[in-house]
Amino acid sequence: MLKDQDRIFTNLYGMNDRSLAGAMKRGHWDGTAGILANGRDWIIDQMKASGLRGRGGAGFPTGLKWSFMPKESDGRPAYLVINADESEPATCKDREIMRHDPHTLIEGALIAGFAMGACAAYIYIRGEYIREREALQAAIDEAYDAGLIGRNACKSGYDFDVYLHHGAGAYICGEETALLESLEGKKGMPRMKPPFPAGAGLYGCPTTVNNVESIAVVATILRRGPEWFASFGRPNNAGTKLMALTGHVNTPCVFEEEMSLSVREIIEKHGGGIRGGWDNLKAIIPGGASCPVLPKEKLEDAIFDFDWMRENQSSFGTGCMIVMDNSVDVVKAVWRLASFFKHESCGQCTPCREGTGWMMRVMDRLVTGDAEIEEIDMLLDVTKQVEGHTICALGDAAAWPIQGLIRHFRDDIEDRIKAKKTGRVTAAFAAE
Ligand code: NAI
Ligand code: SF4
Repeated sequence: MLKDQDRIFTNLYGMNDRSLAGAMKRGHWDGTAGILANGRDWIIDQMKASGLRGRGGAGFPTGLKWSFMPKESDGRPAYLVINADESEPATCKDREIMRHDPHTLIEGALIAGFAMGACAAYIYIRGEYIREREALQAAIDEAYDAGLIGRNACKSGYDFDVYLHHGAGAYICGEETALLESLEGKKGMPRMKPPFPAGAGLYGCPTTVNNVESIAVVATILRRGPEWFASFGRPNNAGTKLMALTGHVNTPCVFEEEMSLSVREIIEKHGGGIRGGWDNLKAIIPGGASCPVLPKEKLEDAIFDFDWMRENQSSFGTGCMIVMDNSVDVVKAVWRLASFFKHESCGQCTPCREGTGWMMRVMDRLVTGDAEIEEIDMLLDVTKQVEGHTICALGDAAAWPIQGLIRHFRDDIEDRIKAKKTGRVTAAFAAE
């Protein structure tokens, strides 16, 4: 369990002063110029050694991503883009950073931007985050006034600007290349990759897109040392992490914890246990809507980290877990997710545009029991036609929850089809 002195986010619940003075009192902006003086390569090497993996969901190694940026300028400016569009259902961790600890993000942006030779950071914040935007803009203004960013940032001789840009509520604009299109003033539609943004990103220039939390932890990692950060969690799953619990726990919350604790410890320590006790647990969705559901039988010894979740055919995602007790109709819950992904598909590639509609229509029948048993395998086949055949990960994200449902809850689906055919309607779907 993480000790208080090892927390990076010391104002997660807004109990302290979030202003520059308050942030400095809590140790932020301490020795920033000295960190920059160590040079770009030193910073990137330290970040690689820390083992930090991207905190937005995909878990790509952060230091490695920064190292893809060109070492020498070819005349094009380089940019850091911070993805603050946080729109994954049940994910609400970056919001806490922006509204209560915004200076961690701005200091991290300066250091990360310096390490990758960027002249500016664009923070793309989701449209609904109005108070967060205000808090962040106030912190940016304070940092400019104090000479921490802008011309000769922290008296380092390096010029670095920070701009805040707000989105308009489209889920797809959290996909990094759709975000770049939107930032350029175009419709938010994902681009083909490669080229990855480090080669051609914002306005065709070298760009790195990082999640809010990935950037907000940078300064503390460099102050305390990569070994300190790497000492938490299992190898390849290093660090402390902002996580969240929503659904049927006694105390839903956002918290910072070390990686690789058991799912049960996380739920019991931070969520106050399952409503009605552990035996009342039915399933979890580990870290966002795209992560396949895991039933209770898989969770007795489950470890909450990237590798365990991948090895068990799910995904750690953003670390923001949805907990479902026995009152939940899991078929209906996944049907609702299918409806979400269909609605949010940008429609530019056929397998996603048509496939999300197909999957939705079969799920409509499964949820009411008005399907044939054979349609379960047909649906599985459709998910395989979508998965891996689309421009961006939304297609996969739409396929995976359905695959997880069929893998673990096939009996539930079959039961309701049989019940409908025999007129034996269960309470769960009588409520439809
Ligand atoms: P991805 O795995 O394609 O890429 C992750 C990052 O690594 C990107 O920045 C990408 O440019 C970089 N990358 C990957 N391979 C690379 C290579 N060969 N060379 C250079 N760079 C490379 O994943 P993606 O599509 O960016 O994100 C999907 C994840 O986003 C999902 O796992 C989901 O959990 C998460 N997500 C999070 C949301 C949130 O609100 N935080 C919202 C929606 C999805
Ligand atoms: Fe758009 Fe879906 Fe294709 Fe992504 S996978 S580009 S959301 S149609």
